Amino acid sequence: GTTLKAAAERSGRYFGAAMGSDRLSDSGFLNIASREFDMMTAVNEMKPDATEPNPGQFDFSRGDAIYNWATQRGMRFRGHTLAWHAQQPRFWGSLSGSALRQAMISHINGVMAHYKGKLYAWDVVNEAYAENGTRRSSNLQSTGNDWIEVAFRTARAADPSVQLCYNDYNIENWTYAKTQGVYNMIKDFKARGVPIDCVGLQTHFTGGSSLPGNFQQTLSSFAALGVDVALTEADVTNASTSQYQGLTQACMNVPRCVGITTWGIRDSDSWRGNENPLLFDRNSNPKPAYTSVLNALNAA
Ligand code: G3I
Repeated sequence: GTTLKAAAERSGRYFGAAMGSDRLSDSGFLNIASREFDMMTAVNEMKPDATEPNPGQFDFSRGDAIYNWATQRGMRFRGHTLAWHAQQPRFWGSLSGSALRQAMISHINGVMAHYKGKLYAWDVVNEAYAENGTRRSSNLQSTGNDWIEVAFRTARAADPSVQLCYNDYNIENWTYAKTQGVYNMIKDFKARGVPIDCVGLQTHFTGGSSLPGNFQQTLSSFAALGVDVALTEADVTNASTSQYQGLTQACMNVPRCVGITTWGIRDSDSWRGNENPLLFDRNSNPKPAYTSVLNALNAA
């Protein structure tokens, strides 16, 4: 394959990116997006604060604009995200206990009804673990430890057609406490029949030498629980070619690693822009890391 998507599709995988609605008028971005990617995600526009600004009053305008652009070009779409400690509707801030729990359930039902049958996957719950492997404290966690499984059961009932994912960062290193915490939750969910289909590893890499062996072990260990795995927000400090090669290789070596998404396309799109962590430079030219990813995809 001579593009990321063509190379990924050779093994039945996808290659995705995240975009904000402000990129819909950026022809440089759109040209690369339509040429290279076959999966899209909204950076902020499908988060709870964006989709339900006031109780029961939903706003899908910006999310739909991105969704329509992408799907009109044959891309699939990952929904991000339904329940998270950050970027919550302002009105959640004055709720707690059963009222907040009910607001979360109503939010999941309202958003998923709108996108019913249209998405490839939803990040149902995002970033619910702390670095030490225990649950992150948050207003949602304070509603009871079962809030995550309630979110997943609600999501399955709302749209049985979409893959339901748990998504987090710093769960790439197999020996890290947070990885083990999330792993044990997925194992428990599978044992008790809580509906979950996939784990998203954000893959915001800053350095380190655990690639590809340790990362591949994490991917294959999650997959062995009976879930798909995906790299959902990949970016790497200074776009290290060896790290990009390694993370791609790790995914390619695990049959249930279904695809890779980068968090933006050009360095100028990135939340880590001063680290130049993406595959294209500010002039929309592919960087050396692009070639290392493309070669790793084509090697499979
Ligand atoms: O919309 C306002 C705009 O009106 C205002 O002019 C501008 C001024 O700063 O701020 C805009 O909001 C910002 C928004 O991005 C849109 O650019 C927020 O301040 C800013 O906090 C927000 O950051 C987003 C961040 O999530 C918030 O948690 C990033 O764009 C987004 O890339 C980032 O994405 C997260 C994933 O969802 C989860 N994993 C980590 C990842 C990176 O942090």
